[in-house]
Amino acid sequence: MGKFMVILLLLGAFSLVFFQAQATVCMVCKSFKRGHCLEGKSNCTTKYSPRCRTRNFFIFSPAGRWVHNHTELDCTKACSAENMYFGSLKVSTFCCKGEDFCNRYHGQVVKKDSY
Ligand SMILES: *[C@@H]1O[C@H](CO)[C@@H](O)[C@H](O)[C@H]1NC(C)=O
Ligand SMILES: *[C@@H]1O[C@H](CO)[C@@H](O)[C@H](O)[C@H]1NC(C)=O
Repeated sequence: MGKFMVILLLLGAFSLVFFQAQATVCMVCKSFKRGHCLEGKSNCTTKYSPRCRTRNFFIFSPAGRWVHNHTELDCTKACSAENMYFGSLKVSTFCCKGEDFCNRYHGQVVKKDSY
């Protein structure tokens, strides 16, 4: 690999870091369903480390499967992608940053699987 390539790669890495440090506008929503915000629509802005968060709420149905109930969107300082179980409630969390309103797409992806 030539020196030129190495410099290009370094430049790419630096610009990636630079863009990730930029604030991202996240969507805030209390109840997000089928790609639309039904309640509490707003914006929040991340700066430095915080991320946009998507939390999908599922309820265990009598038929024996997890049914999507609603999705909540917000900003958070500490976000970890995980599934948490509270009895018959499952909360599935996604985190993102770097693209404005990126957190709305995680709600849509899950929506497609669960309807
Ligand atoms: C959210 O941001 C958009 C543009 O980024 C703006 O037009 C809109 O008014 C904002 N909404 C709220 C509730 O702040
Ligand atoms: C299910 O969604 C409705 C709003 O669509 C909400 O009022 C209710 O609290 C949700 N249930 C759970 C267990 O999150």
